[in-house]
Amino acid sequence: AQERTLDRDCTTLSRHVLQQLQSFSAEAQDLSALMTRIALAAKLISRRLSRAGLVEGVLGVTGTVNVQGESVKKMDIYANDVFISVFKQSGLVCRLASEEMEKPYYIPENCPIGRYTLLYDPIDGSSNIDINLNIGSIFSIRKQEGDDLNGEAEDLLQNGQKQIAAGYILYGPSTMLVYSIGTGVHSFTLDPSLGEFILSKENMQVPDHGPIYSVNEGNFWQWDESIRDYIRYVHRHEGYTARYSGALVGDFHRILSQGGVFLYPGTLKKPEGKLRLLYETAPLAFLMEQAGGRASTGTQNLMEVVPKALHQRTPLIIGSKEDVALVESFIQERA
Ligand code: AHG
Ligand code: MN
Ligand code: MN
Ligand code: MN
Repeated sequence: AQERTLDRDCTTLSRHVLQQLQSFSAEAQDLSALMTRIALAAKLISRRLSRAGLVEGVLGVTGTVNVQGESVKKMDIYANDVFISVFKQSGLVCRLASEEMEKPYYIPENCPIGRYTLLYDPIDGSSNIDINLNIGSIFSIRKQEGDDLNGEAEDLLQNGQKQIAAGYILYGPSTMLVYSIGTGVHSFTLDPSLGEFILSKENMQVPDHGPIYSVNEGNFWQWDESIRDYIRYVHRHEGYTARYSGALVGDFHRILSQGGVFLYPGTLKKPEGKLRLLYETAPLAFLMEQAGGRASTGTQNLMEVVPKALHQRTPLIIGSKEDVALVESFIQERA
């Protein structure tokens, strides 16, 4: 893009969303308002994280276990509640479904038809909080279909094509927000002095192939033979390098930026893998497809998976199309 001459030309997130839809239709206004709320949540979480160790309530665990069976970190709950509070005032969202809540949270004044539902992973990679390494938040926005008067939110149990927006925040050396509303993938960097997310990269495109494979090799003993075959292949061929941070958002952002593949395959203990479809793998699959890459369960296009339950997990193979295809070829060979 042509170099911006004056920083006053900086593109803010809300302006960018409206530009993307080239119209000021009701949906465009809604999406712009929704993204502005996401940005507010991101700023509040980023600010809190920057005080880890300096104030109470950032580091450490709550002592409770969530519906996933995971020990809940204080930041998991803080971030979960930040999203609820910023969307309460929005009027646009009736339901929020998150990794940290067994059932969706309803905002009565915006229900039953609040038009949109926010699905989110408030803190992704929470094992990195206490060691000051990168973590993220992941979000997905869907339209509410029907009244959901019984509070079961069955209309959320649909495939990833039903997403109208998806993205993540990466709390790293800088805080970045990456999103798509179906018109490409765009990244913004938080300028703390302005308190604004400023456009840093438009239309991110993942290379067709990249050198990185990102997987927790500590699970080798638990994998299907086909995945072991793939790992043996990259161990024996030049041109591959391993990178794994333990936080999906950071590992995904590296693949999106440099190419390659991230895998979280099924294991003996978790045959469907560890990652959750509605607020981890489906939003990232939406982004990766928008960036010219692919996402697969190993045997199915990830965007086609229809969940039976809100917290359903799926195996994940995501990244450059040639690298995803290589992994799938080992699976097909043994099918
Ligand atoms: P979360 O912190 O939201 O529970 O997600 C953690 C996930 C994901 O961020 C990461 O890729 C994966 O867990 C790492 O799992 P392993 O430690 O099993 O590799
Ligand atoms: Mn968790
Ligand atoms: Mn996560
Ligand atoms: Mn999480």
